Amino acid sequence: MIFRNQGSSIKKSKTISKEELFKVYGSNSYEFIHQIKEEIFVCSKDKSFDLIELDQLLQTVGWSRRPIRRVKRALEFSILVVGLWSHDEKFPRLVGFARCTGDGVLEATIWDVAINPVYQGLGLGKELMKYILSELKKIGISKVTLFADAEVVSFYKKQGWALEPKGSKCAFWYAN
Ligand SMILES: CC(C)(COP(=O)(O)OP(=O)(O)OC[C@H]1O[C@@H](n2cnc3c(N)ncnc32)[C@H](O)[C@@H]1OP(=O)(O)O)[C@@H](O)C(=O)NCCC(=O)NCCS
Repeated sequence: MIFRNQGSSIKKSKTISKEELFKVYGSNSYEFIHQIKEEIFVCSKDKSFDLIELDQLLQTVGWSRRPIRRVKRALEFSILVVGLWSHDEKFPRLVGFARCTGDGVLEATIWDVAINPVYQGLGLGKELMKYILSELKKIGISKVTLFADAEVVSFYKKQGWALEPKGSKCAFWYAN
């Protein structure tokens, strides 16, 4: 299914044919256009990743590198892996990413939400989160969690996420 955003900050001004959208990004893609940049952006859970490009994207937001082989395995075990692409007929560019783990039935946890700094502040992170939640909803998952870094808590709060009361519910265990 193809969703077209009708929001106020991101409006449709250019087009990409349904056939092209389907061909490049798969049948579950979500396309929107940023008015100022006049670029077409597409969220897709179907389009495969170049792991080097993903590694580079995650480095642009300052995260430490992880062995590509382990990242590949982590993606294979994730229940939803989403790329946000700046559309180009031949060379779509990966500008955003997120993935979810979970049981695939009842619960999911969102990880690795990242937007390339060049594209931050344009509403893309919000669109990416919308797409993820709509895809999780489609498979019937209604309880979603994530671990927000302190400096991005308000990004999630603005989208309706509730914070757990400090120290009363969450438990963590680290191997070292
Ligand atoms: C956090 C992140 C995904 C947000 O993406 P983005 O595309 O810049 O965010 P958007 O433009 O969609 O912002 C949506 C709203 O959240 C706000 N917002 C964005 N980043 C924010 C931040 N770091 N802190 C607080 N609010 C933020 C915006 O001001 C905007 O508010 P508005 O709806 O009132 O205009 C992006 O900044 C990022 O990749 N950061 C580095 C990686 C990271 O920290 N990821 C989160 C791991 S938990």
